[in-house]
This record gives sequence, structure tokens and C-alpha cells, in this order.
Amino acid sequence: MSQFWSGVVHQLTPYVPGEQPMQDGLIKLNTNENPYSPSPKVIEALKAEAAGSLRLYPDPNSTKLKTAIAHYHGLAVNQVFVGNGSDEVLAHVFQALLKHNKPLLFPDITYSFYPVYCGLYNIDFERMPLDRRFEINIHDYDKPNGGIIFPNPNAPTSIPLALSKIEALLQKNRHSVVVIDEAYVDFGTESAVSLIEDYPNLLVTQTFSKARSLAGLRVGYALGHADLIEALIRVKDSFNSYPIDRFAEAGAIAAMQDTHYFEETCEKVIETREALVKQLAAFKFRVMPSGANFLFVKHNTYAGDYLFKKLRDHGIIVRHFSQPERIVPYLRITVGTVAQSERLLIALRDIFEEAQ
Ligand SMILES: Cc1ncc(COP(=O)(O)O)c(C=O)c1O
Repeated sequence: MSQFWSGVVHQLTPYVPGEQPMQDGLIKLNTNENPYSPSPKVIEALKAEAAGSLRLYPDPNSTKLKTAIAHYHGLAVNQVFVGNGSDEVLAHVFQALLKHNKPLLFPDITYSFYPVYCGLYNIDFERMPLDRRFEINIHDYDKPNGGIIFPNPNAPTSIPLALSKIEALLQKNRHSVVVIDEAYVDFGTESAVSLIEDYPNLLVTQTFSKARSLAGLRVGYALGHADLIEALIRVKDSFNSYPIDRFAEAGAIAAMQDTHYFEETCEKVIETREALVKQLAAFKFRVMPSGANFLFVKHNTYAGDYLFKKLRDHGIIVRHFSQPERIVPYLRITVGTVAQSERLLIALRDIFEEAQ
């Protein structure tokens, strides 16, 4: 607290990201990073960039990167917006498109950054409870609103929502922006990008942090009607002209173009996930159906915080949330390599044996 703070700073409750441990040798299954390195072509592009023109500012419009993204998704360049991670893209979305007189709607259990942006930009919001099975019921959103946002698959539940349901939601909700946050979509969830041409109020956000193994590079993007994108550009150009540095642009372009590597790593993560689902179920975990690179699980005997601490003692970090109340018994576990899954299962077996 300080007398020098602006009024808004006193009111903020900042987002708390998962731990990035300083200690070596831990198995990190807590922030949904990809266990595989980025494409070798990304590394080549970064090296070439380092030898290039770092003394010069980057392209403020990131035109080459937007072109690569537009090409991949079959859209026009003016339907793409890029930012410093999808978190920054989302921040601009909240300010540019979701701040209206009626409340913004999002699930009660969802990405915990959403209420933080609402606090930062003073946006009124309403949390819509997930159903008993932790699923989004689209009919709950059929009410006056200043916008709707949720991740698909949802986080931290990992549960995907069918494209037909998203389309049904869009048909009912034509007068405010619907944002689908597709941070994890490439791990087996249907993307809403195909609906963009038909719904000018649909905005889809994606990231290079997960399926393209580039969390450290900080690049995310939004796709939608050119009018929505223009709003984001106006906010961005009133905030930071150069959010995408030269390395980020070069690396992200190479990642976008190496479709083969991207598909191969996604496939490996999905295979490991499916094996892990079965193994955890055999250990008496209830596992939510996942369309993501993480699992949301609850043990039928041991509490979430107990297992979280015990796994940490065994050198494995997973994520445990102390609120909202309904998810306290759960753990969110990122899908790692096959070897990391084996270490996780050995640790769990040891923990259960010690507890007996
Ligand atoms: C649902 C969701 N959306 C967006 C993000 C932000 O990702 P990034 O800023 O790395 O693109 C995350 C990060 O974990 C997430 O879980």
C-alpha cells in the first residue's frame, strides 16, 4: 500500500501463475507447457534472427507473422491479431470488446485470469455455474449480456464443448461478442475457427505456448471479423507499438509453417494422455474427459492438497486450486513425456503405500 498508487491499484487482485521452480531436477507438470522442444526449424530461425537486425525495431504490424497465421487458418490477414502471449491478446479483448453496460458472462470454474481483467478494466461480470458434471450449459448464457467468454476445452476442467453447441450459442447470441479461448484446442478439441465467416461477433483466441511448444517466446493471437480485429489494433496501438519482438516473430512464423512437427508432437501428447487416463483410473482417480494437454482428476480417498504436497516431496509439481470450493479435491496434471508419466505413477504408488 502506498499513497502514490493510483486508485485502481488498491482494488486489484492480480492473477497468480503456476510456479516456475528455481530448483533443478523437478518434473514440472503444473503449467501445461509442452514436454517436447519446439520444432528444430524454430531454433534455426531464432539463430538467423540473432545474426540479423536486432538493432532495429521489429515490424509494428507483424505482417509476416499474421500472414503465416492467416494462411494456416484459411483466413485473410485483416482477420488476425497478434500479441505478447494470448494473455496480452485477452487483456486487449476485455478492454476493446467486452466492456459494456450489461455484465460479461463466463463460467464459475474457468481460467482465473478473466475476473482479473474485469478488475483491471472495471468490467461488470457474472459467473455462470458449470453443471454437476463440470460442463458448460449453453442455455444458461441465453440472457442479456455484454459479452461471453470461456475456454474450449475449459480450464482447469479440460472438458471440451462440441462445436454444434458453440454454434447454437452463437445463433442465440448475436448482439454481443462471444470469445472462445482455444489455448488447448489442438489436443483434440473441435475449433470454432470454421464459424468465423458466418458469425461476425465470434472471436477465437489461440496461442503458441502449448501445442507449438513456445511458452517462453510469448506469442498469442485472435481470429475474427475484421471489425473486431480493428478494435484490438486500436487498443494495441494505444498501449505498445511493438509487442512482438524480432525473435518472437521469426520463431512463431517457423513454428506455424512446420505443420508436420506440430501434428506429430500433438499426437504424441494425446497418446500419452490416453494411456495416463487409464493408468490413473486404475489408481482410483476420477478423471474428467480431456480435450487438452492436461487432466483434471480427483482421488476417491486422498485430498487434492495432500496429494499435491506428497507429489512435490517426490519431485513432481502439479497444480492444486484452493478455490472455488468445488475444485478443492482436484488436481490438474499436465501431460508430460511417457517417461514423466511413468515417474508420476511410481510416485503415486509410493505415496499410496506410505499412507497405508
Ligand atoms: C485457458 C487459457 N487461456 C490463455 C492462456 C494464456 O496463454 P499464453 O499467454 O501463454 O498464450 C492460458 C495459459 O495457461 C490458459 O490456460
